[in-house]
Amino acid sequence: MSEALGDALLGTGPSPDAIPVDPATDPLADDDLQLALYWCYELHYRGLEGVDDRWEWAPALLALRARLEDVFERGLVDAVGPTGGAPDPEEVDRALRELGAEDAGGRSLSRHLEREATLGQMREFLAHRSAYQLKEADPHSWALPRLYGEPKAALVEIQADEYGGGRAERIHAELFAASMRALGLDATYGAYVPRLPAPTLATVNLMSFLGLHRRLRGALVGHLALFETTSPVPNRRYAQGLRRLGFDDEAATAFFVEHVEADAVHEAIACVDLAAGLARQQPALAQDIVWGARALGGLGARGSAPLLGAWDAGESSWRAPRGRPVSRLARPLGARGRGRGGGPPPPAPPRARPQRHRATTSRATSISRPSWSRSSTGPRTSSGPSR
Ligand SMILES: [Fe+2]
Ligand SMILES: [Fe+2]
Repeated sequence: MSEALGDALLGTGPSPDAIPVDPATDPLADDDLQLALYWCYELHYRGLEGVDDRWEWAPALLALRARLEDVFERGLVDAVGPTGGAPDPEEVDRALRELGAEDAGGRSLSRHLEREATLGQMREFLAHRSAYQLKEADPHSWALPRLYGEPKAALVEIQADEYGGGRAERIHAELFAASMRALGLDATYGAYVPRLPAPTLATVNLMSFLGLHRRLRGALVGHLALFETTSPVPNRRYAQGLRRLGFDDEAATAFFVEHVEADAVHEAIACVDLAAGLARQQPALAQDIVWGARALGGLGARGSAPLLGAWDAGESSWRAPRGRPVSRLARPLGARGRGRGGGPPPPAPPRARPQRHRATTSRATSISRPSWSRSSTGPRTSSGPSR
């Protein structure tokens, strides 16, 4: 499927809607299915190198994505269970914290990395995480236009931190890239994706799946709330593991140290103001919020297993990179305009595009308030930075 998709997107194979989707026995462990779904979703992020941007909304591509998602969603429900009864909105915060305190069972990946991992294993771990961390926070941002009031304000507050609070070098994805480079890894967006196994890709596909479907906004919020709740402890261990291996400089550890500190605050905002706030606003979403958190917990444990299993066997957790078409899609670089490959059928006729005003390009530094707020004739505003 992933190779046929690569051919289709590059214009060298049949249309995506002609690609058969194999109903995998365990969709969460199916490398091919997860990679194909990952590429479908990537069209909504930075795009794929050499692939026409118009594929993002091409019906043939969306039809394939829908069939892949049907299989994926069935696998999620099999692994996590269906949504349970609707909890009292006032109980959502407590339910999330209880989920966060649950012992996932099995060996702890973070403890292994803290105490025993070799440098090679630490590098593999970072490469696995790069599939999400280099676009950290992006899937949850899709919830923003779907929320209002208290939960929206809470999500914006969290995301502002994730995106560096106005400082590009503090964007969490940038901090992660710096850590990768400090360990001698390739921090290019998407560089390692073709070598990652299904359980790793499934953890990222889960976020994209929840983020791209408004019906799942409650689950997306619950996912983020548990993500923040369960972040500080393992990140402290990862930082300690890096120091044990001799990487105690800020470039290597800043990402992890940042999450020990920031997520201790984000946890409260995410559980109380965001998740419980949404449940109070829309009680019908309460069960989805809890399910999204359970999905994170379930897939997280499955995602750790291939690494520990391979390392126990003295092997690498990489899989062989996929063949030619996917290799050519290996580095989504944020395609600008039309790529080299064939576009979605039917070809759209060239048309005039509206004039785009590039209001920010000549600005030397970021601004903290709009220019009209300093004039006496423009709209009045009393708001400033929230923090
Ligand atoms: Fe973060
Ligand atoms: Fe966070």
